[in-house]
Amino acid sequence: MSSVLGTYARKNISFTKGKGSYLYAENGDKYLDFVQGIATNILGHCHEHLIEAIQKQSKKLWHISNAFIIPEQERLAKRLADNTFADFICFQNSGTEATEASIKIARKYFHKIGKPEKNRIITFKGAFHGRTLAALFAANNPKHTEGFGPKVDGFDQVPFADHDAIKKKISKHTAAIMIETIMGEGGIKVVPEFCIKGLRKICDENDLLLILDEVQCAYRTGNFFAFEESGIIPDIVPIAKGIGGGFPLGACLVTKKVSIGMTAGTHGSTFGGNPLAMAIGNAVLDIILEKDFLENVKKKGKYFDEGLKKIKDQYPKIVEEVRGIGLIKGLKLLVDNANFMKKLMDHKMLTVKAEENVIRLFPPLTVNNNELDEAIEKIQKVCKEMS
Ligand SMILES: Cc1ncc(COP(=O)(O)O)c(C=O)c1O
Repeated sequence: MSSVLGTYARKNISFTKGKGSYLYAENGDKYLDFVQGIATNILGHCHEHLIEAIQKQSKKLWHISNAFIIPEQERLAKRLADNTFADFICFQNSGTEATEASIKIARKYFHKIGKPEKNRIITFKGAFHGRTLAALFAANNPKHTEGFGPKVDGFDQVPFADHDAIKKKISKHTAAIMIETIMGEGGIKVVPEFCIKGLRKICDENDLLLILDEVQCAYRTGNFFAFEESGIIPDIVPIAKGIGGGFPLGACLVTKKVSIGMTAGTHGSTFGGNPLAMAIGNAVLDIILEKDFLENVKKKGKYFDEGLKKIKDQYPKIVEEVRGIGLIKGLKLLVDNANFMKKLMDHKMLTVKAEENVIRLFPPLTVNNNELDEAIEKIQKVCKEMS
């Protein structure tokens, strides 16, 4: 019997090594890995540049605490600020901490400008913002909150992207709207561009902040952020997962205006932004910022999309919808998603479930077209078997 607390329904398999898009099981079987640590190993397994970065940094300095200046942290913050809407970056260790920091920053902003009554956040049904108590009750999914009461107050939920419901919920206590630009756990539901623009407008008209949770989708869509095509500028963006390429790393990006409440002592983290994590975050960014890298993600995403849509046309009774942008994809199925995933695994391909009977596909951004073809072939085989 395992001594690990039983909070995960694990598959009975473990892996001994990984390289790029592939994982190797203990018995030597090779799997096409489109889970990638749940959208985390953005450059695939054991990317040479990341190995080099971690080896180099591990010989210099691992951890010193935020009581001192951390040059690697300064560098990553500057690079993120230079390449995004943000003026300041607050480093964390995970996505849930990044969303919690976002909530705190929004509340503190209104406190600082003399409107402390503005402290409630509008969130959406089907959302997922992490597993800390505030993040849990922000999403308010009964599957995750049951037994963890008392409820953390301060969140008002509305149906996904229902602008009329949002407008009705806004009160003098509302501080912000928080939404995932692409709802990941909720089933790779992309918030359409017009909707993001609409949310920005609602925020501007009602003196609210817009928090776009990009923990799962940042770097994956072929732009730095999924919201970029909409042309709007959010106020706060939590990111994590891919930004550490498989190393625990989260961050909260904010504008100068919204950052004003966050003075020394208002927030902190022992590990957040330590030299080792920052060296890897910088190494991931080296690759992401390479000329044409994100443009190629767009191209590969389009190629994958075309292949998946062909499968949908070929098997309309199995695949209902192809979702996602770039290399964050979902297949909404008409057959049981768990069963579909199991069969894919029999064909040595790994995927991950989401709500709405979706399977999520997270190829690493380094994936090539042959590997995408291999995925298409395996998915096709399972569709055929289930027809
Ligand atoms: C959109 C979103 N926000 C927050 C989180 C929480 O991230 P973590 O598991 O790193 O705490 C997740 C994790 O899946 C997520 O998808």
